[in-house]
Amino acid sequence: MPLTLWQHCTLATMQPHARQPYGLVPDGALVVQGTNLQWVGPLAELPEALRAQCHTQHDAGGALITPGLIDCHTHLVYGGDRAAEFEQRLHGAGYEEIARQGGGIASTVRATRQASMQELQASATRRLRQLLAEGVTTLEIKSGYGLALEHERKCLQVARALGTEHAVAVCTSFLGAHALPPEFGGQSDAYMDEVLRMLPVLHAEGLVDAVDAFCERIAFSPAQTARLFEAARALGLPVKLHAEQLSDSAGAQLAAGFGALSCDHLEWLSDEGAAAMAQAGSVAVLLPGAFYFLRETKLPPIDLLRHHGVPLAVSTDCNPGTSPCTSLLLMLNMACTLFRLTPEEALAGVTRHAARALGLNDRGVLAPGLRADFVLWDVSHPAQLAYALGAKPHLQTVFEGQLR
Ligand code: NIG
Ligand code: FE
Repeated sequence: MPLTLWQHCTLATMQPHARQPYGLVPDGALVVQGTNLQWVGPLAELPEALRAQCHTQHDAGGALITPGLIDCHTHLVYGGDRAAEFEQRLHGAGYEEIARQGGGIASTVRATRQASMQELQASATRRLRQLLAEGVTTLEIKSGYGLALEHERKCLQVARALGTEHAVAVCTSFLGAHALPPEFGGQSDAYMDEVLRMLPVLHAEGLVDAVDAFCERIAFSPAQTARLFEAARALGLPVKLHAEQLSDSAGAQLAAGFGALSCDHLEWLSDEGAAAMAQAGSVAVLLPGAFYFLRETKLPPIDLLRHHGVPLAVSTDCNPGTSPCTSLLLMLNMACTLFRLTPEEALAGVTRHAARALGLNDRGVLAPGLRADFVLWDVSHPAQLAYALGAKPHLQTVFEGQLR
C-alpha cells in the first residue's frame, strides 16, 4: 500500500506521558499508510528506507498538526430551535420552570416528531458542516428528541446517514430516557417500560452504540436509570449518563457501578461520585457551553476530578435548549476561562480523553498504528487553539488518511 509523508510541521501528538507538553514534536513528520498512521516523530529521525517508500509528499507549510477533534457529546439531530425560549429566559423564566410547563425539551420533541427524515438530516447537516469546518473527525450523536420508537429510530437513522454521507465517524447513543413525553401524563415508570421495549429493537437494527439517560429531578430517577442500565448490560451495550447537571442525584456513582464510559455535566458531583468514577475508569465530560448558556454558577469540581485522576473530556453538548453551539474551539476557550482547565487539558479533552469517553482506543492521539485522522492549524503553539476567540485557525483536515 502506498505511503504518504507529511513534513514541515510541528506535531502535538497528545500522547500520554510524553516528555514535552502536548507531546510536542518540533519539525515533525507523519507517514500515512492507507487509513492509518505508520510512523510519527521528528523528521530528522525518519528512517531513510521509509522516506524512500513515500510516493506522495505533502509540505504542511509549518502548520501545527493535532489529532482530529472528537466531539463526544452532541444532540445534533433535532427539529426546530428554541430561540423563543431564549427570549423567555431573558424575560426572567428559568430553565427548569419552562421544562415543567411543557416547554423546553418537550417543545423540541414536538418539532422533531413533526419533521421528516429529510428535514432532520438537512438541519443536522448544517450543524455538522460547522463542526467539520473546525476539524472534527469523530462525533457522538444522541437520540432523545423523538421519545417514541418511530421517532427515536428516525433520529438515529439520520445520525447513521450523516456518518456515511460525510467524511466523519459517527457514534450513536440511544437517549430515549431524556424526558417524559406528554402522552405518558406523568407516568414515568410506564414510559421507562416503553424505553426498555425500544432499546432491543433499535439495537437489533444496528442503530445503537451506547445507552445514555438524563438522571435528574426533572427527568428520570436513579432507580429508573438503573433499570435502563441493566437492560443495556444484558445487550452488551456501554452506558453513559447526563449526571449531576442541576442537582446531585448520585447518578455518577450509579453509572460508575455499570462501568460507564462517561458521566457528563457533573456540576453537582460529590466526592463519592468522583471516587466512583475514578474506580470505574469513567471519563468526566465537561460541557462549558451548557454551563454558560444556562448562566449556571455552580462549577463542576475540577480539582476534585483531578485529585481522583478522572480523565477530563470537553464537548459542545450541541443541542437547541442548553447549548446551541457548533464550535468545539469555543468550548476549548470556555473550558479554560470558565472551568480553569489548562489549554493542554482542554485539548486532551477534545482528543485523547474524548476518544476514551466513546470507548475508542484507535484515535485521539498521533501514534503509529492509530487512525490517520488529523488537522493542520495556522498557529505556532497549541495553546493558541484555546486562547483565541473567533479566530479561524483551521487549515485542512485529513480523515482516514485522505484530505477532506
Ligand atoms: O445536555 N441535560 C439534558 N439534555 C440536554 C438539554 C436538552 C434540552 O434542553 O433540549 C443537555 O443539556
Ligand atoms: Fe447533553
